[in-house]
Amino acid sequence: MRIAPARLIEGRIRLPGDKSISHRAALIAALSSGSSEISNFSTARDCASTLACLQELGVSIENKAGKLLFAGGQKLAAPKKSLDCGNSGSTLRILAGVLAGHNFSAELVGDESLSSRPMRRIIEPLELMGAKIQTTDGKAPLRVRGSDKLTPITYKLPIASAQVKSAILFAGLNAEGRTTVIETSPSRDHTERLFNGFGVPIRTGADFSVTLVGRARFSGGQMTIPGDISSAAYFVAAAMLLPESRLTIEGVGLNPTRAAFLSVLSSWGADISTADLQTERNEPYGTINVSGGITRVAGQAERTLSQSMIPSLIDELPLLAVVGSQISGGIQIRDAEELRLKESDRLATTAVNLRAMGAEVEEFEDGLSVLGPTQLRGARIDSHDDHRIAMAFSIAALIAEGETEIDGSECVAISFPEFFGLLNSLALR
Ligand code: S3P
Repeated sequence: MRIAPARLIEGRIRLPGDKSISHRAALIAALSSGSSEISNFSTARDCASTLACLQELGVSIENKAGKLLFAGGQKLAAPKKSLDCGNSGSTLRILAGVLAGHNFSAELVGDESLSSRPMRRIIEPLELMGAKIQTTDGKAPLRVRGSDKLTPITYKLPIASAQVKSAILFAGLNAEGRTTVIETSPSRDHTERLFNGFGVPIRTGADFSVTLVGRARFSGGQMTIPGDISSAAYFVAAAMLLPESRLTIEGVGLNPTRAAFLSVLSSWGADISTADLQTERNEPYGTINVSGGITRVAGQAERTLSQSMIPSLIDELPLLAVVGSQISGGIQIRDAEELRLKESDRLATTAVNLRAMGAEVEEFEDGLSVLGPTQLRGARIDSHDDHRIAMAFSIAALIAEGETEIDGSECVAISFPEFFGLLNSLALR
């Protein structure tokens, strides 16, 4: 994909449903005693992987005029073939938790990128609960032999991961008694909100603990998934970086464990406001308004992203590194070694591509330091088949001098197939 610089971003949009919430809503609807109807389900290829795996497990899902209808009251059945999770870490890890609580054996497989990502983080707690999981090297393929009589555990997460937390909570549904997960820093809490919203009570403690009592059942019901805030992030950043811009995004998720990039960009001088706050099954959503331009100089403390902030910014960090190249004094990202274990090694792929565009970047084991402000220049970008890298550098291309070519740009479909179409309609040249 070739991308020319833009003058400004202008428009009012709504976005397809949030990817993380869609995975969870589909799993809950599949396990519910009653029927469910889910609107604005994510169009991400990752979420299609979750639906296909559920169908392979015998779940009937009908797409009626864009709404997903789940019959409910069904039991998952042993799949006849491997469950293909594609590129999706959330599908593989959270589904492993679901399978751990079912009395059959199933194999989870993924593409090359997913097959290189660490899985011991779910294998350990799920085996403690009584599932048997075979793997050759701690990576996919995984063969899960589940049990409907799991033992509840109290488990302290060694790393902040919503996927691992969610895998344990879904397994906890089929454990007799109290399952507790304790986090070191809070990660996205969609599973907790949706469990409560669909009738399985979850208690959260001040010590970042999350507890559920097993054997409760979801009732099912209707849900409209809020727009994807991680997809919104690209357009919010673009509007901030192009001074004459005016952008409104309606119906977008504003869950505080996901929205931290909004306060970071505001602290860096962006003019961002939110309005029309509402909730859907405990998930907050509303409108984001952005007016272009960097309106003030950020202090040094505001320009360092580290420690407990990292989990709530995790998917936006490549984009924030791009924005950081435009911030007076530059920015630092630390304590973000988890970024090396995503769809690509995002610390390395962000650093290499920012340098290709003329930015000065230092790479650490756990982060990046990006000097700013720097006039970026158009370059050839390697997405490494990582959707968030392709999209972050498409935004960089809008403020660069000259054209940028993004290699492997079709990978944006993993989370946001509409990305380039929307970008073209919003960017005025
Ligand atoms: C996700 C959790 C995060 C995030 C991923 C989606 C989820 O991963 O990076 O894009 O839906 O739970 P980790 O749990 O590995 O931090």
